Amino acid sequence: MLLAILGRQPNIGIAELESVIGAEHLSIFSNNLVLINKDSLADYDRFGSVIKFVKILQDLEPQPKNLAQKVADIVIDDLPLQEGVKIKFGLSFYQSKLRPSQINSIGLSVKKILKNNSYSVRVVPNNTQSLSSAQIIHNKLTSPNGIEIVIIEQKNQIIIAKTIHEQNIEAYSARDQARPMRDARVGMLPPKLAQTIINLATGPLSLEPNPKSEIRHTILDPFCGTGVVLQEALIMGFNVYGSDLEARMIEYSQANLDWLKNKYNFDKQQLNLNVGDACQHNWPQPIDIVAGETYLGRPLSSQPRPADLTDIIQGVNTLHKKFLTNIRKQISSGAQLCLAIPAWQTKPGQFEHLPMLHQLKDLGFKRQDFKYTDTNKLIYYREGQIVARELLVLKPI
Ligand SMILES: C[S@@+](CC[C@H](N)C(=O)[O-])C[C@H]1O[C@@H](n2cnc3c(N)ncnc32)[C@H](O)[C@@H]1O
Repeated sequence: MLLAILGRQPNIGIAELESVIGAEHLSIFSNNLVLINKDSLADYDRFGSVIKFVKILQDLEPQPKNLAQKVADIVIDDLPLQEGVKIKFGLSFYQSKLRPSQINSIGLSVKKILKNNSYSVRVVPNNTQSLSSAQIIHNKLTSPNGIEIVIIEQKNQIIIAKTIHEQNIEAYSARDQARPMRDARVGMLPPKLAQTIINLATGPLSLEPNPKSEIRHTILDPFCGTGVVLQEALIMGFNVYGSDLEARMIEYSQANLDWLKNKYNFDKQQLNLNVGDACQHNWPQPIDIVAGETYLGRPLSSQPRPADLTDIIQGVNTLHKKFLTNIRKQISSGAQLCLAIPAWQTKPGQFEHLPMLHQLKDLGFKRQDFKYTDTNKLIYYREGQIVARELLVLKPI
């Protein structure tokens, strides 16, 4: 059994897991923990909204005696002693009342036991109950000479698990901030969110293609901007097709993807870019998968006057209706779309949605429902952010 530990906005992580793995393999363990009834997944790097995947090793009664001994036994089992090799060990607690200092002292007890068994160990100190992604990646705790033990406390049981994958924040920022062409005006779609958008658009297919595979599906982003969605789709092994109203954006996407090509091997994958108005453009057929972040309206750093917000929403709403009408005629009957569309945060946690969400049926689409999460809660935003991104998963009817 695996457990997925979700990020700041668990609903989005739940939808992503449901889409890729299937609701039948999932059960909700707690607010931000999802149980997966599989022993492994083909690729963990592709889940933008899952912080950590852990493998469940043991179930214990609450407040077990000799926890340190149990943890040390697991480490000894998992990492056979190698002469001259120093191992790095970390401990993270979830849903626990323990203070970091108490966790550190359990860690030191584990170290002592391991030392008595001839291990050379460095313990990564806890500043918080769970180690940060940066600590896990930096100390290589998921590598052959490292281990992170995760302890999840529930009312009636304690689960001991081992981290098998941690979201690589260093890799994300390397392919975000280092890109040659960025544009604050079109917004900075985080690569993680781009992955989630792709996963919601492709479903289980997103685990299938890989850079060596011969079978490839093409992902269309009709609002490609600087190309973040295209970039992540290429890394996942898809062919990509990007279009944007502005020629400058197509040049930016081209420059960014050329830069990416030097880092990854995309020799066998197709990449096409074109200038085009999404409300009228004819894309090459067939179109099976559409993933992208649409036009979000003008950026807002403070609350607009209600009349101004109404104007903004109306303009953006019209564009979305025209776009959906245009693309509806061109997609295949089994197509799936995931679009990050704007929603405006008018009060903390309260949003104005695009009115066209009530006209999807007339536009020829059905919004995808999820078993374990409410579609209306799939909104990605930071505290105080006015223009948020609502994730909309659609199928033609
Ligand atoms: C929020 S940005 C997308 C940014 C993109 N995710 C990226 O990685 O940079 C929206 C994009 O839509 C484009 N756009 C606006 N109206 C459009 C239209 N009618 N047709 C196609 N693209 C349009 C803008 O030029 C802009 O690049």
